[in-house]
Amino acid sequence: MDQSAAPALLYNPLTPEFRRDPYPDYARMRSQDPVHWAPHSYCWVLTRYADVKFVLSDKRFGIAMEWMMQIEALQATFAEPFNQIIRTQLLSSDPPDHPRIRNVMRPGLSAKAVARLRPKVLATAERLLYDLKPQGRMDFIKDFAYPFPFNVICDLINVPESERPPLKGYTHGLMRTTDPTPLSREETDHANRSAEGFRDCFLELAKHRRKHPQEDIFQDMVEAIDAGMITEEEFAANMILLFCGGHDTIVNLFGNGLLALHRFPDQLELLKSDPSLMKSAVEELLRYDTSVQIARRTALEDVEVGGKLIQRGAYALCSLGAANRDPEAYPDPDRLDITRKDAKTMSFGGGLHYCLGATLARMEGEVVFSALLRILPELRLDTLDPPFHQNVFIRGLESLPASW
Ligand code: HEM
Repeated sequence: MDQSAAPALLYNPLTPEFRRDPYPDYARMRSQDPVHWAPHSYCWVLTRYADVKFVLSDKRFGIAMEWMMQIEALQATFAEPFNQIIRTQLLSSDPPDHPRIRNVMRPGLSAKAVARLRPKVLATAERLLYDLKPQGRMDFIKDFAYPFPFNVICDLINVPESERPPLKGYTHGLMRTTDPTPLSREETDHANRSAEGFRDCFLELAKHRRKHPQEDIFQDMVEAIDAGMITEEEFAANMILLFCGGHDTIVNLFGNGLLALHRFPDQLELLKSDPSLMKSAVEELLRYDTSVQIARRTALEDVEVGGKLIQRGAYALCSLGAANRDPEAYPDPDRLDITRKDAKTMSFGGGLHYCLGATLARMEGEVVFSALLRILPELRLDTLDPPFHQNVFIRGLESLPASW
């Protein structure tokens, strides 16, 4: 296979244009070279829905973290304490470890557990919004979207109020590591302190829980340690994953979603006039401008995808953002349509690593957009062109000023 035949730099996620709006680039890639060898990123980039679904579901693709750790240029980063601490999280694991840990976590994020949490999530949304209401304006990202998911995760695992403040700093310290651009020494030190702080706090809380059990995912994990099903290291790594996986993803569901609704005012009006559309609206907002843009996989053997040979050991970047706008999967994909039928999004990935928090994320979306329209019905955005963060994996806004 001739890799040099593909046009150079068809994929360049570091340009200001891509950061502002990657979807025209995705459309170009999908039509010109849907399974594209990106020489600068040294990986394959997949932009068709069908190819993304195939790679995420096929057992010949995996995470293969041990292979990645052997890459010389990455060894110093993998040796950092934060990477050692999160090493065994689900997103870095393959079978047989992956299903063993995931099975312990699944009940605590099931539809039943999420329904139990709903009243607390609603109370958090209402409290934050009613506190903000008298101000007449806010930065939706900083003032609402950021504090909200942190509180939800703490409620999910029943962290006592007194233990919460340091965890907030640790979450922020580790979120920067989700962006693959190199970390400064200062950022690395912050990430190390954050991972250590998280781990020590969870191990301390686990001691308390053994004496005072509660019904939640934290308890399930502690009991799994004691039953020899998972290690303490796996427990800490995956509790940290809940904070990191369930934070910026939700911030950006709210930020990207609110922006999309205001860019399509007819859809916003439709939703205001018919709240029964909320479920399908959240599904459409998830599809339209998703937070997690990429799922990375390694070919565990040579595999042909879309007529190209992906060789053993090569990386495939499955572009979830591009798959979500594939006209083969969604008619008129660049239009926000909250009445779309069967618009099952690719935003939660697929296969073994399908998002464990998808039910919780959908519930948070429904609760928050309903509360927002009810409590601040006059909300307007100051700009329809707010700045996006520079982050190749996670797409989200730096700020979203709004008034009412
Ligand atoms: C809109 C919000 C969210 C989006 C778009 C999202 C997206 C994703 C995606 C795409 C993956 C798979 C990544 C891959 O295959 O490489 C994933 C995995 C995961 N997510 Fe989410 N997520 C969201 C919210 C949440 C929440 C709220 C939680 C829990 C608090 C959560 C917990 C997880 C976990 C634990 C995994 C790992 C699953 C595994 O490896 O088996 N996510 N998420």
